Amino acid sequence: MLELTAVTRTVQLIDAPPLTILSGVNLRVAIGDRVSIVGRSGSGKTTLLNLLGLLDNPTTGELLFDGRPVRSFSGAERDRVRGRDVGFIFQQFNLLQGRTALENVMTPLLYAEGRQFWQRSRIASEMLDRVGLGHRLQALPDRLSGGEQQRVAIARSLVRGPRLILADEPTGALDLETGEAVMDLIDDVARASGAALVTITHDPAIAARATRHLRLDHGALQADHFSADPARTALALTPGRTP
Ligand SMILES: Nc1ncnc2c1ncn2[C@@H]1O[C@H](COP(=O)(O)OP(=O)(O)OP(=O)(O)O)[C@@H](O)[C@H]1O
Ligand SMILES: [Mg+2]
Repeated sequence: MLELTAVTRTVQLIDAPPLTILSGVNLRVAIGDRVSIVGRSGSGKTTLLNLLGLLDNPTTGELLFDGRPVRSFSGAERDRVRGRDVGFIFQQFNLLQGRTALENVMTPLLYAEGRQFWQRSRIASEMLDRVGLGHRLQALPDRLSGGEQQRVAIARSLVRGPRLILADEPTGALDLETGEAVMDLIDDVARASGAALVTITHDPAIAARATRHLRLDHGALQADHFSADPARTALALTPGRTP
């Protein structure tokens, strides 16, 4: 589904030389893949996720989506593909305040076509039911707990059935137990729909759920020396140490 070849991302700074955030990134993501990405703060994780989600373009190198160079997409086409095929889940839930849970989850369906558009209210309430919030359809975000808000955000991200789910520290604002329940939910939805899931995390237990483990180090992507053994994993996640 996604193929990155020798991708770099550089930004021009006003009074300093250009900053290279990503360099030489090669990555393939296929339907059903489970990929985790770890790395220190500032190593380029969010920048990479933005490329995968068609929010940004590589500076050099090639990014193919379903075999087509993303560079050749028009702005409208890029928006359409992103809306239909990509679901983003963030650490901050980014819900529309002052709108109910149901209205939040319905929002992406306003850009859909056919049944997804006409039956948006029913589809959104079914999705909220699926994340365990069928009884809170009319609740406003500020009346929901952090875990509940993240479940609304997940329902909103996944309501159109994306083939690619991109999660940027999805449990970063949640306690351990709530975080695990939220990851169970994301895993379930991804598995049921056969979507690919790419998760950025600082948490070894969350990374352990993936089947491919990658690490970003100063903008370079590499296989992570990962072990299911928590003690070794903690060591593996310590920058500069190899277990
Ligand atoms: N548009 C931009 N202009 C200038 N610098 C940027 C821009 N976008 C990102 N950066 C810089 O690039 C580096 C990588 O940023 P990025 O957000 O990808 O890191 P990250 O790995 O997600 O970090 P964190 O774990 O803290 O979220 C950072 O040093 C950041 O300040
Ligand atoms: Mg980040």
